[in-house]
Amino acid sequence: MTSYYNGFPQSDCDKEISMINLDELEERAKEVMPEGAYYYIASGSENEWTWRNNTTAFNHFQIVPRALTDMDNPSLETEFMGLKLKTPVMIAPIACHGIAHKDAEVATQKGAQAAGALFSSSTYANKSVEEIAKAAPGAPRFFQLYLSKDWDFNEMVLTAVKKAGYQGIFLTIDALVSGFREANLRTKFAYPVPLDFFTRYQGGKGEGQTVAQMYASSAQKIGPADVQRIKEISGLPVFVKGISCAEDAYLAIGAGADGVYVTNHGGREVDSGPATIDVLPEIAKAVNHRVPLIFDSGVRRGSHVFKALALGADLVGIGRPYLYGLALGGAKGVQSVIEQLNKELLIDMQLTGCKTVADIKHAKLTHFDYTADNLRSNTDPSRIVPYPVTAENQLQEADTDTATGASQR
Ligand SMILES: Cc1cc2nc3c(=O)[nH]c(=O)nc-3n(C[C@H](O)[C@H](O)[C@H](O)COP(=O)(O)O)c2cc1C
Repeated sequence: MTSYYNGFPQSDCDKEISMINLDELEERAKEVMPEGAYYYIASGSENEWTWRNNTTAFNHFQIVPRALTDMDNPSLETEFMGLKLKTPVMIAPIACHGIAHKDAEVATQKGAQAAGALFSSSTYANKSVEEIAKAAPGAPRFFQLYLSKDWDFNEMVLTAVKKAGYQGIFLTIDALVSGFREANLRTKFAYPVPLDFFTRYQGGKGEGQTVAQMYASSAQKIGPADVQRIKEISGLPVFVKGISCAEDAYLAIGAGADGVYVTNHGGREVDSGPATIDVLPEIAKAVNHRVPLIFDSGVRRGSHVFKALALGADLVGIGRPYLYGLALGGAKGVQSVIEQLNKELLIDMQLTGCKTVADIKHAKLTHFDYTADNLRSNTDPSRIVPYPVTAENQLQEADTDTATGASQR
């Protein structure tokens, strides 16, 4: 089902999505989204090397199976900043959910709440922070701040966020300008649905703006003093989002940050930058448990969540996959995406003897820099080669096992 905003088609479904894995949603989402919107989500910057390697580099670490662990029924429940969560999987902040669904962030928040996951909304959200909060009373949520050059705007935003009951801020510092995203240029992408904070402050701005124009209004000059100022205005804990090296983790904590968020913006900013999983160990060592640590970029599997937790993350964010879930299934689709990762993660926990999320932090990984591929399985629809049809290889009704195709003679 589809509804339209100013001629822009928006999914309006609310249904569970059945899937074998998250990767397949990337293809299926094309069927319910216009090309420009799809590639705004799906693409990275320049040659998309970092975007690809964010996922591939998980292969540099291997999970060591454990035997005779004498445990069953692992649990995903975890606590983060005093919030009780049903999963360590988190909804990373993404702009303009209205390109995926008519209910935009409201639907995403409902899906996250149903899965018991931490939700976060972007400064570039379509729905207001009040609408989002009202849609899911009591649900844990953070707000992502793109600092503006205009401190009146920043104060308006932070005051509204605090009043709406958000529990923390992610201050994004890795996107001071937009990465060079060729897909947006090719499709001439501009935000098709109004962004609430820009409508409120500037009367209609946001809708119809390109990504580069939006970033131009945000601050390029952000330093340690800004962290303090945001803490003071909001009265909320502030995580610095966009840390890719130990030096910046030290800087952030020194500036008073309440947490560190390791990400490269899903490979949308500096292309040829390192995959986040490769820099996580040095950052975790620098942070040394002084503050909580969030990780994202390239996470598509339960085993990726497992590895990030084992290497020092407290929560693991996902971006693009839940937006595809939103487009394909609304709130229930978002929930299905989180639950798919949970399902895979629970299998890894059982097979490594990890009863709790805290146990995963002590799980044994090995490290070997395979340059190996990260191909999908041979039965994945994107890889499948049509099976040849010959007179000799067709099943016949009576004397074959129709489930396996095996001859019973
Ligand atoms: C379409 C899109 C929009 C995004 N918008 C924002 C944003 O508004 N603020 C922000 O801090 N990060 C934003 N991000 C980055 C995500 O928070 C997250 O770091 C990234 O998506 C994780 O990588 P993944 O998509 O591979 O999981 C965006 C990412 C995508 C894909």
